[in-house]
Amino acid sequence: MAAVPRKTEHRDAALASQERKRQLRFITCGSADDGKSTLLARLLQDSRAVLRDRFPETRTESLIGGTRGDALDFASPADRLQQDRDQGTTSDVAYRDFESDRRRFVAIDAPGHERHTRNLVIGASNADLALLLVDVRKGILIQTRRHSHVISLMGIRHVILAVNKMDLVGYRKDAFSTIVDDYDAFARELGIEQVHAVPLSAITGENVVARQDCMPWYDGPTVMELLETLEIDPNGEQSPFRLPVQRVNRPNPEFRGISGTVASGRIERGMPVVACPSGETTAVEHILGPAGELESALAGQAITLVLADEIDASPGEMIAAADQPPEVADQFAAHLIWMDAQPMLPERSYLARFAGASAVARVTDLTHRVDFETMGHFAAKTLERNEVGYCKISLDRPVPFDSHRAIRRTGAFVLIDRSTNSTVGAGMIGFALRRASNVVWQELKTDKAERARAIGQKPCVLWLTGLSGAGKSTIADRLEQKLRALGKHTYVLDGDNVRHGLNRDLGFTDRDRVENIRRVSEVAKLMVDAGLIVIVSFISPFRSEREMARNLMEEGEFFEIFVDTPLDVCEARDPKGLYVKARRGEIPNFTGIDSPYETPNDPDLRIDTTQLSAEQAAETVVQLLRRAQNSVRTADDP
Ligand code: ADX
Repeated sequence: MAAVPRKTEHRDAALASQERKRQLRFITCGSADDGKSTLLARLLQDSRAVLRDRFPETRTESLIGGTRGDALDFASPADRLQQDRDQGTTSDVAYRDFESDRRRFVAIDAPGHERHTRNLVIGASNADLALLLVDVRKGILIQTRRHSHVISLMGIRHVILAVNKMDLVGYRKDAFSTIVDDYDAFARELGIEQVHAVPLSAITGENVVARQDCMPWYDGPTVMELLETLEIDPNGEQSPFRLPVQRVNRPNPEFRGISGTVASGRIERGMPVVACPSGETTAVEHILGPAGELESALAGQAITLVLADEIDASPGEMIAAADQPPEVADQFAAHLIWMDAQPMLPERSYLARFAGASAVARVTDLTHRVDFETMGHFAAKTLERNEVGYCKISLDRPVPFDSHRAIRRTGAFVLIDRSTNSTVGAGMIGFALRRASNVVWQELKTDKAERARAIGQKPCVLWLTGLSGAGKSTIADRLEQKLRALGKHTYVLDGDNVRHGLNRDLGFTDRDRVENIRRVSEVAKLMVDAGLIVIVSFISPFRSEREMARNLMEEGEFFEIFVDTPLDVCEARDPKGLYVKARRGEIPNFTGIDSPYETPNDPDLRIDTTQLSAEQAAETVVQLLRRAQNSVRTADDP
């Protein structure tokens, strides 16, 4: 089909494969007291390894950014700022490249203090193996379990258990064996397939690179021997081919190339492929690398594919092996590691970023929380920072993905807070949920436009937000009267009233408020679909849910109206006597007292109730609507 560059690249997949096999990335876990830095220094020194990168700090940024195409972009610029704020440091994950005679290494050092789960997640997502340090005198600590749990969740299946400080227990075999037995049982439960335990002393160097003769009872390999010889398939050459589409290149009408970094498997010229989610199939005509045409390519290589047929594939979609396609679904079950100070709230909408695609995501069910220590499952309503849960997640569109067990890269995702833009959760997909595909959208003959035409108005949502006692309900009431006087068809959804029926099972925790607003937004959407002008009067304290409500509606259908009354004024008015009770501690989670209210950043209208009467306030809303729709006539109009 297309004219491709003539030059042939010699470094094809076979060569690239050999080269890659020579590289191992490992994450080092354990606290400073366990001797982590001493061990690393020993490894470097005794193996006379050559440091390939003398300025690891400068590389950190790009590696976390996933420029090698092997890690999700777990750290956005906003994350770095957040990390700064949280921890008072910038980059905590350090990458050190070195090389021995037999292999190249990337040692990933992620400070693993409890507060730094985020570092561990970022580091582990890049690693093929974990070098886990324990102090023989202390044994397997909670922290060791926590680290192991995170790395196993992140898909690491090989652990070198470095039992350090053997010199301090007289090199006793039983001290070593106790720890190994202890850890083996635990690792099996976690699904860590191979544990290679080495008794050593980082200080003396015993069994780090070379053997001395203090532990004649140990005849296994040293840490360096393991690192140099363990065969791991880090690039998933055996797994199915996946190419998340990053760009579609069309420099001229004859050429159309689809570019990206191979996330898994191997591709050859002529291979049949499928584009997902569209499902269109074709074959690979040419594979282009940075220096010219290739016969084949594999995971980690940046390529451009020229396909035999022009199929529908745009950025965010995936090109995959036709005989082993990924799942395409809008719901799945996944493990979620929470990394944000703000807890995870079911039903809140987050941005989910996958290997290629992005989608708006909600956790619809938190099935259970997993305890690090006992591995037990516990019922939970939210996830706090550093907690892991098993959840059901629902997306706003179908996305191609794999189970994380099958393919790490395309089975992982991150959740991003839509207001702060920082990464708040890391997810590992279990399996697609088929619920979604069995419920189809029923098309009806009569649609929104027709219903609206029949009653002669443009339906919309007038969303009043503000503190309790701000005057929302009074303004809503006046506003409805005014609109009815203008011949409009309206309905008022009022927080207190809806909480008597549809939402009577909900209280005032953050989680319940999120669900309260989700339901009322869906109801408002149905009413807009029915053709009505819907006045919503809810405190709706969180920006994120107000934004979610806006996103449910079409452009121009949603107006955020901030009923701005300072707390002290609301409290002085106290129409329902609730502030008095709240101050006495009789109403927990009261908005403005011990539960937050996030003021709108950019409302469509702000009403200062200290300046305007309810009547005047209602009139400004009518004016807003008139300006926006050019169709609502005020009482003065002819
Ligand atoms: S929202 O935060 O979830 O949007 P909503 O508007 O439905 O709140 O309900 C607020 C009304 O519930 C208030 O006007 C008040 O009458 C009553 N209420 C009872 N407990 C609380 C509380 N803890 N915080 C705020 N309002 C409360």
